[in-house]
Amino acid sequence: MLDIKIERTTQPKAKPEDESALGFGKIFSDHMFIMNYTEGKGWYDPRIVPFQRLSFSPAAMVFHYGQEMFEGMKAYKGADGKTYIFRPEMNARRANASNDRLCIPQIPEEDFIQAVKAVVKEDEDWIPTAEGTSLYIRPFVIATDEFLGVAPSKNYLFIIILSPSGAYYKDGLKPVGIWIEDEYVRAVKGGIGFAKTGGNYAASLAAQVKAHDDGYSQVLWLDGVERKYIEEVGAMNIFFIIDGTVVTPALNGSILPGVTRNSVLELCRSWGMPVEERRVSLDELLEAHKAGKLDEVFGTGTAAVISPVGKLRYINEVMQIGDGNIGKISQKIYDTVTGIQLAKLDDPFGWRVVVE
Ligand code: COI
Repeated sequence: MLDIKIERTTQPKAKPEDESALGFGKIFSDHMFIMNYTEGKGWYDPRIVPFQRLSFSPAAMVFHYGQEMFEGMKAYKGADGKTYIFRPEMNARRANASNDRLCIPQIPEEDFIQAVKAVVKEDEDWIPTAEGTSLYIRPFVIATDEFLGVAPSKNYLFIIILSPSGAYYKDGLKPVGIWIEDEYVRAVKGGIGFAKTGGNYAASLAAQVKAHDDGYSQVLWLDGVERKYIEEVGAMNIFFIIDGTVVTPALNGSILPGVTRNSVLELCRSWGMPVEERRVSLDELLEAHKAGKLDEVFGTGTAAVISPVGKLRYINEVMQIGDGNIGKISQKIYDTVTGIQLAKLDDPFGWRVVVE
């Protein structure tokens, strides 16, 4: 159990007036959590302090070799007035899987969850309540040693910041166009694709710029070896409804194990839908589309929740999906996941965790 000290701000900021114009990740709440690590001493000095700039040596290792991990979570004000977070144990576990891969020390899961709850509790009046909004939670760890050699750092900071946010994609639930990348790859097995770390996102930018220049909003990655199999979208996992079956690429070491991905799989199974986690080739998608069997496509992620896909482009092929509106199953999944998150629906899976 952490003994978290609290230093409250003496200059609370004005909260956003128009919650419909929040955007994503642009505004930050009054406080943040911070905790230090030093080799031989472990994690120490957990504290909540006013949101502030930090000062580092320009030689801090995170700036040079990217030794860092991050997580994404959300807090909601439930229909019953209570504050909730969603499946935090999965984020705590995944944070440590990322830490392991990046030679960052483990954070005890209960400490991770306690820290998230404590800072959310402190700033719970920053949770927006307009439709589609939430308090986005960004826990992260950075390597802080002042050293230019390539080696694991001996010092780290674990920080949690909070951002009242609206939809990740400005179009919300309007189906987006996705660019299937044919030049760059994101990750290969044995690499860091399954970890939530900045390097994966830095590696995605060049393709994202190309996609944006062509009017597409996101990139869908193919596997890094054969460039035949579907992996994930940069900020989301991907699902296909093929002839009534829910299909998503299996976790193969190069795909991020998404919390929303896991929740959607459990939900669809509980509805008795056929669900398959397996390799999905681009050829299979092209064929399913030609045969009129690619019913729906959507991305899943904490930030985006469900993002319907209306168009998939691969070199000269463009597959139109649906009629320009969100598909029936995608909508039902969105309504159920957000209904559980917002305590509008029962929570048969025990996913909601109250912050008190
Ligand atoms: C999330 O969905 O929480 C993520 O971390 C994706 C991020 C790139 C916005």
